[in-house]
Amino acid sequence: MRVGILIAAAALSLGLAGCGIAGHETRDPAILDVPVGFEPIPVPAHNPLTPAKVELGERLFFDLDLSEDRSLSCASCHFENAAFADPRRLSPGVHGRLGIRNSPSLVNVAYLNLLFWDGGALTLEAQALGPLEADFEMNMNLGDLITRVESDPSYVSQFEEALGEGPSIRTLTQALASFQRTIRSGGSRYDRYVSGAVDALTDSERRGLELFRGKANCASCHNGFLFTNQAFENNGIEPAGSDSGRARITLDPADFLEFRVPSLRNVEKTAPYMHDGRFDSLEDVIDHYDQGGTGVRNQSALITPLRLTDQEKRDLIAFLNSLTDETILTGLTP
Ligand code: HEC
Ligand code: HEC
Repeated sequence: MRVGILIAAAALSLGLAGCGIAGHETRDPAILDVPVGFEPIPVPAHNPLTPAKVELGERLFFDLDLSEDRSLSCASCHFENAAFADPRRLSPGVHGRLGIRNSPSLVNVAYLNLLFWDGGALTLEAQALGPLEADFEMNMNLGDLITRVESDPSYVSQFEEALGEGPSIRTLTQALASFQRTIRSGGSRYDRYVSGAVDALTDSERRGLELFRGKANCASCHNGFLFTNQAFENNGIEPAGSDSGRARITLDPADFLEFRVPSLRNVEKTAPYMHDGRFDSLEDVIDHYDQGGTGVRNQSALITPLRLTDQEKRDLIAFLNSLTDETILTGLTP
């Protein structure tokens, strides 16, 4: 048994691992504490966070049996050691089928008002049905899924203990949502800096922070404790294929090519970047913004040429790298 590391790095105590799935660390489910500067975790009244539900949700999240051919778990596209994102541009689902979007990090996902790059899912409970059913992801018939889970007596007793009833779509998605709400992190060097440890950032990183808030104007969209205002914006990247972003959901042409502003926490570890993973490096991202985007239709007026020097670009990237929380990168994926 290995020692589990709390995700909320503000709580620096270590919890003992429970009896998780071999190959990854079981996270202490008891934590409702949040990192310094974070808001309380929003939890819906109909699905209170309990340690038993979190533990069950964690087991489900890492279970390959949740996919049609038993080849994929949720963690197959949300890698624990990549801040629950996917280092591949697109994540192959069952039979190697590809979707059109890059898997986002799930760190601090509890705080997101709307889910998916286009805001197409309203809650974590509802979201889970997306990957379970999508033919390019886990491709499960929901009836078969419940039959499969019910055939394992240890699951049935764990569901009853955690939710007072056996496996169903409702209880399964409640457990998955509960686990994901505990994936949070705010233990980067930047956090130590804003808590008063001025030496936690190097000179270059501090200059980068100034640029981020000032000349480079990043903080007009990437702000707040998650480094996102959670708005849908068009940051000037050219369309690829037919993905129209937010407009796909709202059917409003004014939302053309707008995507949810992503959090930048752990961004060093969540390459490749943008909704389709088109940029491999932060250098590419900074060059994109430095040019003022591509001038694509509906580009935000906030995206304008920045004329950054090479040193300023390096400083900005150094700052972005200071948003990494090493303590959440310790897990192994199955
Ligand atoms: C085949 C790869 C794949 C699998 C398997 C997968 N996901 Fe995802 N996940 C994605 C992709 C790609 C997106 C982005 C989709 C979009 O925005 O349209 C995503 C988005 C999400 C989001 C929204 C995050 C955000 O920032 O809005 C959550 C939550 C999530 N997945 C949880 C899960 C859970 C729970 C499972 C298992 C039941 C799962 N995923 C299985 C690829 C996958
Ligand atoms: C107008 C709002 C806006 C401004 C200003 C802005 N961004 Fe973004 N940013 C976005 C949106 C929207 C996306 C997602 C676009 C997509 O996926 O196609 C994004 C994506 C990113 C990503 C990719 C993250 C990921 O997980 O894929 C990085 C890194 C980033 N921005 C950094 C910056 C930096 C650095 C600046 C300042 C130079 C900046 N942004 C300015 C809106 C903005």
